[in-house]
Amino acid sequence: MTDLAERRGVETDVYQPAEDSHLLATVAAEQVGQDDLVLEVGTGSGYVAEHVATESGARVVASDLNPHACRSARERGVETVRADLVSPFRDDAFDAVLFNPPYLPTDESEAWDDWMEVALSGGETGRAVIDPFLRAVGRVLAPDGRVLLLVSSLTGVDEVVDTAATEGFSAAALRDESYPFESLTVLKLLR
Ligand SMILES: C[S@@+](CC[C@H](N)C(=O)[O-])C[C@H]1O[C@@H](n2cnc3c(N)ncnc32)[C@H](O)[C@@H]1O
Repeated sequence: MTDLAERRGVETDVYQPAEDSHLLATVAAEQVGQDDLVLEVGTGSGYVAEHVATESGARVVASDLNPHACRSARERGVETVRADLVSPFRDDAFDAVLFNPPYLPTDESEAWDDWMEVALSGGETGRAVIDPFLRAVGRVLAPDGRVLLLVSSLTGVDEVVDTAATEGFSAAALRDESYPFESLTVLKLLR
């Protein structure tokens, strides 16, 4: 395990809820209503999906590439599909899509090769998963749907906002929190 992974306190095959998870879960629970159909991409342990469903009354479904994460989320009662990003879901399906992506910039020399890399590494820029997510997510959003995306200062909030604009989204920062190594922002993206 690299020091990056150790710094995040990750010791299992499944990303355990951390500051970023709590921030996204709290903000998302305030932003969705009980009639919304919500997708959490990259659900990990299922903590965010479960929290949002419990607090808002919304139906929340989830995806993750990691089969261990899918099992963990299902154990929490989250309907979870093993999938890449939003690929299996139908067009215009979701009122809200949530994502706490892998976002740590990772040199090739630092790369490790396990489910924690899938959970944490955003490639050299930190945006290797965020960029394809931004290209894909519009397809599954209902016409007035919104995206809640957790972004770190390590990843570059301005760069993410620029890519989102290229994909037709306007962005607003709903909440920021500062930590010793980074600040975290929840972006709300609307078309
Ligand atoms: C930073 S963790 C967040 C986990 C959880 N949502 C949370 O906030 O605690 C990122 C998650 O995204 C998943 N992931 C990474 N790439 C993915 C992809 N292309 N499609 C679906 N899930 C992906 C990882 O397996 C991991 O569970």
